[in-house]
Amino acid sequence: MTNHSIRSNLLSRRGELLGPTYGLFYEEPLHMVRAQGVWMYDADGRAYLDAYNNVPVVGHCHPHVVATLATQAARLNTHTRYLADAPVELADRLLSTMPAEIGNMVFVCTGSEANDLAIRVSKFVTGGTGFIITERAYHGTSETTSGMSPSARVPLGRDVYAIAAPLGEDGPAQFAERGLARRHNFFERRRRLRSARLSRRGRARDPRRGRPVHRR
Ligand SMILES: Cc1ncc(COP(=O)(O)O)c(C=O)c1O
Repeated sequence: MTNHSIRSNLLSRRGELLGPTYGLFYEEPLHMVRAQGVWMYDADGRAYLDAYNNVPVVGHCHPHVVATLATQAARLNTHTRYLADAPVELADRLLSTMPAEIGNMVFVCTGSEANDLAIRVSKFVTGGTGFIITERAYHGTSETTSGMSPSARVPLGRDVYAIAAPLGEDGPAQFAERGLARRHNFFERRRRLRSARLSRRGRARDPRRGRPVHRR
């Protein structure tokens, strides 16, 4: 089999076996087989300088990370509801590098989970419920974060406002202004819909029009 036919075969099996929400980059998707440091390699052995991948922050397959993962997986791989040394040790080491206002740590496994937690924390701290996102954002796969991910073609969640991302001459001030305008328009539309609904109900109960109409 040529690499080309291996890739086509993988592509069609992927389409059959994985859920339809999994997207692919590029018209000719890249078939990656390994990575090292800043480089990723495809099935033809072609090297790609990785300026995009957001997960391996110290480079792909960093030997220290690989060894530590393998050691821990071989020793104990469980959740956080048992007493265990590793999460406490890691929290201690991470916190020693952070400003004093950050007093404790919460560990998560995925970006979706991290964003979900950040959303919960921000709602708790501000008492607000609204979020402004950019029109092509991707924030994850959970119920809340997918509602903030127009790029995943999922309907926006409640109180989520999408605005165009800052481009060209557009600076932070214009970006913030557009966010506020979007929020204002949203509340204005909601206020108008509510008052139209109330006035319809008012008319329905008008004694001159007979018995109140029960609306579902
Ligand atoms: C900007 C951004 N936010 C959130 C996520 C979701 O992360 P995860 O797939 O680990 O849940 C991703 C993943 O690609 C991402 O790129």
